[in-house]
Amino acid sequence: MCYIYFNLVQIYELYFVSYLTILKLSRKRKINIILKNIELNDVGSLGKALSKADNQKIIFTKYGVPGDIVDIQVRKKRKSYIEGDIVKFHNYSKKRIEPKCKHFELCGGCSWQNMKYEDQLFYKSKEVANNLERIAKISPEKTLPIIKSDKKYYYRNKMEFSFSNSRWMTSNEINSKKIINDKNALGFHKSGMWSKVVDIKKCFLQTNISNKIRNYIKQRSIELGLDFFDLTNQKGDIRTLTIRTTTLNEIMVLIQFFKDSKKANRLLNDLKDMFPEISSIMYVINSKKNDTIYDLEVKCYNGKDYISEKIGDLKFKISAKSFFQTNSFQTIKLYNIVKRFANLKGDELIYDLYCGTGTISLFLANLVKKVIGIETVEDAVIAARENAKFNEIHNAEFIWGDVKKILKNGIEGNSNPEIVILDPPRNGLDKSVIDSVISIKPSKIIYVSCNSSTQARDLVDLNKFYNFKLSQSIDMFPQTYHVENVVLLEKI
Ligand SMILES: C[S@@+](CC[C@H](N)C(=O)[O-])C[C@H]1O[C@@H](n2cnc3c(N)ncnc32)[C@H](O)[C@@H]1O
Repeated sequence: MCYIYFNLVQIYELYFVSYLTILKLSRKRKINIILKNIELNDVGSLGKALSKADNQKIIFTKYGVPGDIVDIQVRKKRKSYIEGDIVKFHNYSKKRIEPKCKHFELCGGCSWQNMKYEDQLFYKSKEVANNLERIAKISPEKTLPIIKSDKKYYYRNKMEFSFSNSRWMTSNEINSKKIINDKNALGFHKSGMWSKVVDIKKCFLQTNISNKIRNYIKQRSIELGLDFFDLTNQKGDIRTLTIRTTTLNEIMVLIQFFKDSKKANRLLNDLKDMFPEISSIMYVINSKKNDTIYDLEVKCYNGKDYISEKIGDLKFKISAKSFFQTNSFQTIKLYNIVKRFANLKGDELIYDLYCGTGTISLFLANLVKKVIGIETVEDAVIAARENAKFNEIHNAEFIWGDVKKILKNGIEGNSNPEIVILDPPRNGLDKSVIDSVISIKPSKIIYVSCNSSTQARDLVDLNKFYNFKLSQSIDMFPQTYHVENVVLLEKI
């Protein structure tokens, strides 16, 4: 029985929660256990604060900060760990800071906004070093200090918001017994709840024009009688909004409608009149069951069908479907790490695997004999080729397809590359990609990753044939637990 079990662990106390606590936690699966006076002493998976003492299970809790002493309501019990929510503070950590955003804890993003920036950097570095050491047995001495971000807020160039006719309501609103007429939301999905959207008034991650545009679109959509999307029953008029901004002050707004209508057209027209500074107004009609637009035609309503961004000396065209690094200010620093690790002589052939819109390839092209980028999203490959032309780069080739298949079949007409750059999605490399890379024997591998645990896993195989030389983290996403890490490997 759980009571007996929990008595064995001394810090736990079992008692029934009060009526108020039941109300507060009524949307969560209830386990009536409160762990008292728990000192949070580290950070673990997905940026959750944790408490670990000898012979105890690890206790994870979101929005805690190491140094806090708290009471925790248990939400999930597993063999080796417990997850819970803070219900009372006995001591606030010195690492704490007041979050700027009033949506903090509700919207699911920026979960470290309550931690001082220097401490965020400390825990990001620690996570990378731990993963490299624990999984890939790499000594922490080979890790360079993390590169911080000069901008702590307003650094994102792309934000995606959802329309919903069933906004997330706070416990206060529910308990107030007031009749709530305003159920529309334009904002972010409540974490772990696909059907609930937290209405956002101000987000601190993108420049302020983004807030003005979003708030205008919400208000005007209501005035025009556009039905915000009903995610459960898959009906309504308007589904999502994407706002992209660039350091060249260009703005793209992409609205996803469920169906075409006069009201939709009116909204686009009013947006054009209200914000003449928007460089590109795009829209797409999507009556599918999901929000992905890669298989749909995105149309230009006004302005250009792309926006431009500058990275170093290069200019990039970004179209509605293009992947582009979401923090332009840090991207140049990230690519400079790759350049420094590559230490180019000028005669190299480079493979840039998982190249997106070819930005790393183009950044390095003028310094080498040739770059070949491989990418699975066709539009990104088209954009990469266009960007090569746009920048008058003639020694960059882009291949559309799955890295796994292309490496297996070999790339015709080329010798083996001296350098392979890897920048896969979060789940890391397929085993067969690792085998192919090893078999083409590049003298250097530079592995860029946004997930140091899958990166460390992949290094276990790569390190049988390569010496681990250096690792450098960079903070691309302040206020979140995410961290980018670049690793240099050299052929044994
Ligand atoms: C982290 S992004 C790369 C970003 C790019 N290097 C940059 O700096 O902009 C990963 C890319 O891998 C692509 N991708 C995912 N799976 C792939 C596969 N099996 N083959 C080729 N590309 C893939 C994604 O479409 C995405 O553009």
